[in-house]
Amino acid sequence: MKIYSVITGASQGFGKAMALEFAKRKMNLVLIALPNSGLKDVSEFIQQHFAVEVRYLELDLSLVESCYSISKYIKKHQLQIKYLVNNAGVLSRGLFSSLDEQFILRQIDVNVTTPTLLVRLLLGNLKTNAPSGILNISSMASFFALPTKQVYGGTKAYLTSFSKSLAKELKQDNVSVTAICPGGLNTTTRLCYQNRLLGWVSRKSVLNPEDAAVIAVQSLLRRKEVVIPGFINNCLMVLDKILPEFIKDKLANREIKKLPVSIP
Ligand SMILES: NC(=O)c1ccc[n+]([C@@H]2O[C@H](COP(=O)([O-])OP(=O)(O)OC[C@H]3O[C@@H](n4cnc5c(N)ncnc54)[C@H](OP(=O)(O)O)[C@@H]3O)[C@@H](O)[C@H]2O)c1
Repeated sequence: MKIYSVITGASQGFGKAMALEFAKRKMNLVLIALPNSGLKDVSEFIQQHFAVEVRYLELDLSLVESCYSISKYIKKHQLQIKYLVNNAGVLSRGLFSSLDEQFILRQIDVNVTTPTLLVRLLLGNLKTNAPSGILNISSMASFFALPTKQVYGGTKAYLTSFSKSLAKELKQDNVSVTAICPGGLNTTTRLCYQNRLLGWVSRKSVLNPEDAAVIAVQSLLRRKEVVIPGFINNCLMVLDKILPEFIKDKLANREIKKLPVSIP
C-alpha cells in the first residue's frame, strides 16, 4: 500500500521547494497547480531524480469543483494520504479601493475556501492513515494590521486561526495541524526585486524558499502547531508584543513606502 502527500501550488516557489523536500524524504506525491504552469515538468523531474511516485493534477483551485475533483481522484485510485499541504495562495499588495473585485473573490477562494474544503474532504483519509498531518501555509501577515495587505492578511489570519483550533480538535484522532507563517520569501522574480528595496532588517528577515521548506517539513513531521521561520522574524514577533502601536505603524508605513505601488 503506497502512502502519498498532497501539495497544492507545487509548480513553483515555496510549494515546489516543499515538494523537493518531501521527495528527499522518499515520500510519494500528489502535486496540484494550474494548467500550463510547468507542473508536469516538475513532477517528472522529481519522479526521475528521487525515485518516488509523483502524480499531478492541473486544476484551478479558485473553483470549489476542483476540490471535489481532487477528492474523487484520490478515492478512485484508492490513494492513502498521510500529509496534506495547503500551499497554493494568491499574494497581493495594493490599496483596497484599487483591487479588482473579481481578484479579491478569487484570492479569498484560493486562500480560504479551498484549504478549508480540502481538509474537510480529505480528513477521513488522513484519520485512516494516522499519525498524519496537515500543513497550512499561512504568513506573518496573519498577525499584523498592514495597509495594502488587508485582504491577503485577512485570509492568512483565518488560516492561522483555523489551524490552531483544528489542531486541538484533531489531537484525539492523531492528525496534527501545523500553520507555518513565513515573513518574506524570495519566490517570484517580482518578490525578489521588491525584497531588495526593503530596509536592512526587513531584507535580512527574507528567507529563500529552499531554507523555509526544510523548516516547514520538519515542523510538520515534529507536529508543531504555529511556526515562524527565521531568527529575525521571531525577534520581530517579540518586538510586536512590546512596541506601542504608533511606533509599529510608523515602522510598517516606512517599509511599505519603499515599495513601488503594486497590485497583484
Ligand atoms: N512569497 C512570500 O513572500 C510569502 C510569504 C509568506 C507566505 N507565503 C505563502 O506561501 C505560499 C506560496 O507562495 P509563493 O510565494 O511560493 O507563491 P507563488 O510562487 O506565486 O506560487 C503560488 C503557487 O500557488 C499556485 N496557485 C495560485 N493560484 C492557484 C489557483 N487558482 N489554482 C491552482 N494553483 C494556484 C501557483 O500555481 P501556478 O504556478 O499554476 O500559478 C503556484 O504553484 C502562499 O500561500 C503564500 O501566501 C508567501
